[in-house]
Amino acid sequence: MKAIEIRNKYLNFFKKYDHSVIPSAPLIPENDPSVLFNTAGMQPLVPYLLGEKHPAGTRLCDYQKCVRTNDIDEVGDNRHLTYFEMLGNWSLGDYFKDESIAMSYEFLTKELGIPAEKLSVTCFAGDEDCPKDTASAEAWKKVGIPEERIYFYGKGDNWWIAGEEGPCGPDTEMFYDTGKPACGPDCQPSCDCGKYVEIWNNVFMEYFKDKDGYTKLKNKNVDTGLGLERMAFLLQGKETPFDTELFKSVMDKLEELQKVDSIRSRRVIADHLRASIMITCDGGRPSNVDRGYILRRLIRRMIRHMNNLQINLNELGNIIDVEIEALKEMYPELDQNKKDIRNVILAEKDKFVKTLNHGEREFQKEIKKLEGTKVVPGRVVFRLYDTYGFPPEVTKELAEENGMEIDMKEFEKLFKEHQEKSRQGAGQKFKGGLAEQTETTIAYHTATHLLHEALREILGEHVKQSGSNITEERLRFDFSHPQKMTKEEIKQVEDLVNEQIQKDLKVTCEEMSYEDAKKSGAIGLFTDKYGDRVKVYTIGDFSKEICGGPHVTHTGNMGRFKIKKEESSSSGIRRIKAVLIKED
Ligand code: SER
Repeated sequence: MKAIEIRNKYLNFFKKYDHSVIPSAPLIPENDPSVLFNTAGMQPLVPYLLGEKHPAGTRLCDYQKCVRTNDIDEVGDNRHLTYFEMLGNWSLGDYFKDESIAMSYEFLTKELGIPAEKLSVTCFAGDEDCPKDTASAEAWKKVGIPEERIYFYGKGDNWWIAGEEGPCGPDTEMFYDTGKPACGPDCQPSCDCGKYVEIWNNVFMEYFKDKDGYTKLKNKNVDTGLGLERMAFLLQGKETPFDTELFKSVMDKLEELQKVDSIRSRRVIADHLRASIMITCDGGRPSNVDRGYILRRLIRRMIRHMNNLQINLNELGNIIDVEIEALKEMYPELDQNKKDIRNVILAEKDKFVKTLNHGEREFQKEIKKLEGTKVVPGRVVFRLYDTYGFPPEVTKELAEENGMEIDMKEFEKLFKEHQEKSRQGAGQKFKGGLAEQTETTIAYHTATHLLHEALREILGEHVKQSGSNITEERLRFDFSHPQKMTKEEIKQVEDLVNEQIQKDLKVTCEEMSYEDAKKSGAIGLFTDKYGDRVKVYTIGDFSKEICGGPHVTHTGNMGRFKIKKEESSSSGIRRIKAVLIKED
């Protein structure tokens, strides 16, 4: 079964059980700079898992584009992928364990035709924070999983939270038995030997964790995640995702072009290329910070591996075409952005090629100086990165070829210092994100709407939001406007916003179709994020905007609005930083 068929079956199955199919959010989170990329299907849904009402209802399903980079060094083995697609279904205070488990079981055994005896499941064993999840185990027994294939593990295996804080809860995981022999008498789903592969994870999210501990969420939610590529290779009876139609044509092309053979290099290239294509398509651009730096590393490591295989780098354009061809049925947006994607990746390749030869010579010189030692110091790794654009992985691989290691800890320390420096003047780094909605960030969110409308009234209707970012300390708002705002204009905008705050306007929310929202005069921003049904927030008779929320109920207690800075963000885009000052 091809990946796209699995995806379609999944969405249709959950549609049949009254789930609304929502679109995948872009890989690059829109309002949450606390994470570089979406790493799970639940990420764009955090506000709704915390109790915000979703316009599409209480049963949702989707496919979500995800990138995880913590395993970048593992890519090249048979399981890890940088980019992957997660299929997910959610209950927002609707069904819980019994129904979730029954649907998962039906989908796996009936729709995908997996023999029941190939399935094992794991449940939470219980600890001082949360009791043993016997309800899930019972639900599994009820659908027909025998007791001996139900395992219980602790927080390390059967508890899910994104990062340190946020919505969380026990999970139940489903494992596929590949039929490989057990590695020993203790072989279990938690074992790494390859006999059992995790295929689906249902999280029963009833808790919220912050630094003070656990509290109960307003709703009992279900958040599930099924890794599409993994399911595809298992159902196709293949050994790895690289043997499926998602990668096969590129793997073959690389084999045809290579002069030296290495399956690991081919996999690294295929994986990094796909991730680079997907990130670029969603607006990512190579740079030296944050997500741009991840993209740069992916492209550069891929080039290094092309060199390992002695593939002519002029072939890269053709290789990109082959991969887009393989993926475009699943992601039609790739075909539309093909030219852009090609240009960005090829330009980065050219940049890298220029420095690569030079950098390798430098590396050799350094190695000579280090003769007799086994470790390349972090400062050398950093200098190669800083001066020659060498990603540390490349230096690591070069070092390994010379029987050496690199001091990654020291490199990371230097790199962090460097990042801090490059951020100076660029404002405070956003901490938190949507997972941390507090009274303050909610007020800033409402202030953003007031500011947006005020700018349109004072400067003109050409003003359009092009970005926004909220912390506990301030809001940041980017918008289209051709020139610097005058002092007078800034004052007028501040006054207009403060006037609305003083009027203590009521904030109301209505759900409607996107078309109706546009007709009602609402300013539309995230048009593709919420699907057909959208929420429109109205602030008195002043502002009307399509938005996911949340917002204050009345503007009265927001504080005094003050613009701290007005500056250029990029060509034709201005940036405002503003604060709300509480005066009580
Ligand atoms: N959030 C869970 C995961 O990423 C289930 O979707 O596995």
